[in-house]
Amino acid sequence: MRESMRIGILGSGLMGGKLGTLFARAGHEVVFSYARSDAKLKRLAREAKGKASAGTPADAARASDLLLLAVHWSRVDDVLQQAGDLSGKIVVSCSLPMNADDTGLVIAHTSSGAEALAQKVPGARVVSAFNTVPSEVLFGVYAARRKATKPSLIYCGDDAGSKKTAAKLIKDIGFDPVDGGPLRIARYTEPLALLIAQLAYERPGGPELAYRFERFRKE
Ligand SMILES: NC(=O)c1ccc[n+]([C@@H]2O[C@H](COP(=O)([O-])OP(=O)(O)OC[C@H]3O[C@@H](n4cnc5c(N)ncnc54)[C@H](OP(=O)(O)O)[C@@H]3O)[C@@H](O)[C@H]2O)c1
Repeated sequence: MRESMRIGILGSGLMGGKLGTLFARAGHEVVFSYARSDAKLKRLAREAKGKASAGTPADAARASDLLLLAVHWSRVDDVLQQAGDLSGKIVVSCSLPMNADDTGLVIAHTSSGAEALAQKVPGARVVSAFNTVPSEVLFGVYAARRKATKPSLIYCGDDAGSKKTAAKLIKDIGFDPVDGGPLRIARYTEPLALLIAQLAYERPGGPELAYRFERFRKE
């Protein structure tokens, strides 16, 4: 596994913008793609304060060791089509299979967004990660990354090599990676992500209150 990776960001909104920025600050080379304006992608690249550039989804895919998929479920087909052939690529997805008005999951119980994604890109190696964390806490976790206790972050996937790479990335930005098992475990982590969002945005206390997902110390 390479220490410094080339990472393509497919979807440069709240999650893609922040995660891409943190990946760049952690020493990876990042290409931001897929926003409604090129100016936004260029601004993200400028402000990432690392090795970062702006490009098309095809640019992001071409040179990357790993792709982060961070678009609304309704945009997945479009961004994948623009990205082109992803055979052999590691695709880490934080995208949840939400309906158009973001009130519920369109895939649940007997499958998951992650598994549906794996069927859309059969040659790619899909890992589900980052969707259980509100974007608002990402910079805070990164700033505290040298502390002994780190918040846990569950990831899952079927390919051992891509999971190892995803775990390194999770560690690089300040979380303690927890291997949840095969990709079908996303059937549980995706509803958990909704619970966390519910606590974060609809209960008093905000994202920090929702994200008390910390390692327990042994007494
Ligand atoms: N936000 C969170 O805290 C959070 C937490 C867990 C999981 N998730 C999941 O992560 C995924 C991304 O969420 P997000 O909050 O980052 O979404 P977002 O802020 O809406 O970002 C999505 C990106 O897609 C771009 N986009 C949308 N329509 C487009 C179009 N027609 N052409 C080109 N680009 C287009 C947006 O462009 P603009 O930048 O120009 O708007 C944005 O960069 C979702 O599946 C969500 O369920 C989010």
